[in-house]
Amino acid sequence: MSKIAVVNQKGGVGKTTTVVNLSTAFAQQGKKVLVVDGDSQANATSGFGINARKMQNLYHVLIGEADIDDVIVHIKDAGVDLVPSSPDLIGVDAEIKEFDHWELFLKNALEKVESRYDYIFIDAPPSLGTLTILILAAADSVLIPVQAEYYALEGVAQLLETITHVRRTINPSLKLKGFLITMFDRRTKLAEHVEEEIRRIFPNLVFETVIPRSVRLAEAPSYGLPGVIYDPTSSGAQAYINLAKEMLSHEEEAAGIR
Ligand SMILES: Nc1ncnc2c1ncn2[C@@H]1O[C@H](COP(=O)(O)OP(=O)(O)OP(=O)(O)O)[C@@H](O)[C@H]1O
Ligand SMILES: [Mg+2]
Repeated sequence: MSKIAVVNQKGGVGKTTTVVNLSTAFAQQGKKVLVVDGDSQANATSGFGINARKMQNLYHVLIGEADIDDVIVHIKDAGVDLVPSSPDLIGVDAEIKEFDHWELFLKNALEKVESRYDYIFIDAPPSLGTLTILILAAADSVLIPVQAEYYALEGVAQLLETITHVRRTINPSLKLKGFLITMFDRRTKLAEHVEEEIRRIFPNLVFETVIPRSVRLAEAPSYGLPGVIYDPTSSGAQAYINLAKEMLSHEEEAAGIR
């Protein structure tokens, strides 16, 4: 079982798109997958066609009002399970910090169900606040999407410092899974330069698979479907399917299977 947090405090870099499509691509590879929507915007939740405003969701789990098992919904089309989120989650910040060891509340909640899954993907909000700390404390590794644009690495140093801080204090085994280049526009020289630069600064830490800018990926959430189901033949869907295969082959190599 592996818990992968998709984190970048920069907004709109493709975190949620990555969580929704990559998790579905893993399920299509026969893996048992849980998605945790850790953002009060609830974009991963609506991306799977769920509206959790009137349902118990991650908020109720974190404040101890619901059991995680009672909020998990199965998403039939995608073949994944989901811990949904709703704007309720905005309140978590003020409400859990009065408790000792609040940082471990998501980790503790997941412990109850994690043995049932091969992969747990956690979508993070665009901030380094309370929810991101809960997510980094619960995860085994961090995947950082970066947009192939001029300010791609803005904020990454601060994110890496936060990861180091979490390692020192609450989660010593937290690993950096890698950087994922998203929204790559192959018609521009700029995108190519940005890719080269990211690969130069973080050698061996950038996934070979690059996610292209793809209208079909952007359209899919309005149908409540992951892009890899809405249009599996689109370039964006194909890229997420390839990324899942790349990640699985890294793991097989690491495990000495190949
Ligand atoms: N590869 C892509 N091609 C085209 N559009 C994309 C791609 N990836 C994401 N988008 C679109 O860009 C916007 C931002 O993507 P997304 O919501 O995944 O980013 P995010 O990092 O989760 O944002 P936030 O920080 O607000 O949570 C969305 O409208 C999404 O549909
Ligand atoms: Mg998001």
